[in-house]
Amino acid sequence: MNVSKMGEAGVFSKMESSRWSLQGMTALVTGGTKGLGHAIVEELAGFGAIVHTCSRTETELNNCLLEWKAKGFRVTGSVCDVSDQTQRENLLNTVSSEFNGKLNILINNVGTNTAKSVTDYTAEDVSFMTSTNFESAFNISVLAYPLLKASNAGSVVFMSSMASLLPAYSGAIYASNKAAMNQLAKYLSCDWARDNIRVNAILPSVVKTALLEKELIIELK
Ligand SMILES: NC(=O)c1ccc[n+]([C@@H]2O[C@H](COP(=O)([O-])OP(=O)(O)OC[C@H]3O[C@@H](n4cnc5c(N)ncnc54)[C@H](OP(=O)(O)O)[C@@H]3O)[C@@H](O)[C@H]2O)c1
Repeated sequence: MNVSKMGEAGVFSKMESSRWSLQGMTALVTGGTKGLGHAIVEELAGFGAIVHTCSRTETELNNCLLEWKAKGFRVTGSVCDVSDQTQRENLLNTVSSEFNGKLNILINNVGTNTAKSVTDYTAEDVSFMTSTNFESAFNISVLAYPLLKASNAGSVVFMSSMASLLPAYSGAIYASNKAAMNQLAKYLSCDWARDNIRVNAILPSVVKTALLEKELIIELK
């Protein structure tokens, strides 16, 4: 990328950069109405990808879709709780029919956390967080696999966390879910390479989002 040229041009238009264009690409981003997922939807759509996203809150999803339409982005959405297998299947059926059976990019972004001391966690906490953080990403990836393979240029991204590597105050379940996600990413990157599907995990540190604020509130109590 020619930085001086970007400077001379003033505002650099993503859509004008053929080197980085995602024109013609399709993407599914889970949890795109807030935080990192919202930013990822805008980034992908800004580069020309057609994006489908989901969240549990219909009004917020509809507001985001209107906002993106006004910006000229091509984004559709579904109300979906990714911790539920039937809803995951419905989501992927919708994506398949919208994108004619082909998906280039899957961003497994949804994640949640309730930070507590290890011995304060209940069995319900383990089940809720593991189904939201890990089982959702595993099962959505498997459901998306035929679509990713059909695109012949697939990419899966798991939104992990630095907490997966470093003992921190994030909480044991969250950290363990994210560590499992890292291992899944390594496994799939070997298993699906033959199908031209790249698989990566991203491990952000601290980003000021609704999730972080929720964790901080719990920490301060
Ligand atoms: N923020 C950080 O500092 C940080 C650091 C490291 C890693 N991460 C990871 O980055 C990812 C995004 O985090 P964030 O901070 O952007 O979170 P966030 O601000 O809380 O946003 C989460 C998004 O996911 C949706 N969502 C939550 N649960 C869902 C479910 N069961 N089904 C469908 N959608 C659901 C939310 O909408 P609804 O609530 O309306 O469903 C929202 O759109 C997570 O995987 C998180 O673990 C974050």
